[in-house]
Amino acid sequence: MPPVAFVPTVVAAPLLELRQLHLRRGASQVFAGLNLRLDEPRIGLIGHNGAGKTSLLRLLCALELQDSGQVLSQGQDLHALPHGESHTRRVGMMFQNPDDQIIFPTVEEELALSLQPLGLKRREALARARDFLAGRGLGDWAARAVGSLSQGQRQQVCWLALLLAGPRTLLLDEPFASLDLPGRARLADDIAGCAQQVLVSTHVLDPVRDWPRVIWLDAGRVRGDGPGREVCAAYEAAVAREVAQSRDRRATMRAVA
Ligand SMILES: Nc1ncnc2c1ncn2[C@@H]1O[C@H](COP(=O)(O)OP(=O)(O)OP(=O)(O)O)[C@@H](O)[C@H]1O
Ligand SMILES: [Mg+2]
Repeated sequence: MPPVAFVPTVVAAPLLELRQLHLRRGASQVFAGLNLRLDEPRIGLIGHNGAGKTSLLRLLCALELQDSGQVLSQGQDLHALPHGESHTRRVGMMFQNPDDQIIFPTVEEELALSLQPLGLKRREALARARDFLAGRGLGDWAARAVGSLSQGQRQQVCWLALLLAGPRTLLLDEPFASLDLPGRARLADDIAGCAQQVLVSTHVLDPVRDWPRVIWLDAGRVRGDGPGREVCAAYEAAVAREVAQSRDRRATMRAVA
């Protein structure tokens, strides 16, 4: 019998990957050896305040530099991409607080800024921004002063800017926090219709509950990672236990006093 030829299996590098990541922010050791492969088209990120969700997203779009370990985009170090390649074409982020993101005084200028990595002339970028707004029934927003918009509307501007820029991966940090119910439904529809990979950090669990992958971060470590239904239910059960324990402790302290 002829020898069986060894055919190596080619496994494509994941869209994003963290390897042995260590990060300190101020007095907090946020991550100490975090490993994650992020390849699915939709990934939810949940966990308590301070768990490390924003820090993780900031690392994934090169806004934060790790102390050690690697952040890889399709196998390439995000901070050392081949000459001429900007990470902004690969990853873009919508901030938790829109006021940390918005730079320009009007909506059209802010949207035009997001087209800068495409190398468009200013006039062309503004025209595209206006067309984009008009196509979404928001033509009258174009010349509006960003400062005249509500918090939820400013958050919407940040989302539109990211959508228009169209990087391969969209990182959304608490995007549902300030939105009203129609706004949440619209954003959920937009995300569902996105061709790109989308990572969403959220305290509002319903939008990610049916996603195939949700990661639960707890003090910088992965405590749950799997189908949204299971991970969200495990998180909610843990929260219910914590709340009950803290209530018992307070009742005991009152009884002793
Ligand atoms: N600018 C900063 N300087 C120093 N430490 C920071 C800074 N930002 C965050 N941290 C610390 O890093 C840790 C992780 O914070 P991070 O903002 O990533 O949490 P999070 O999961 O996004 O929380 P939240 O749900 O409140 O948004 C926390 O201990 C926090 O105190
Ligand atoms: Mg956060």
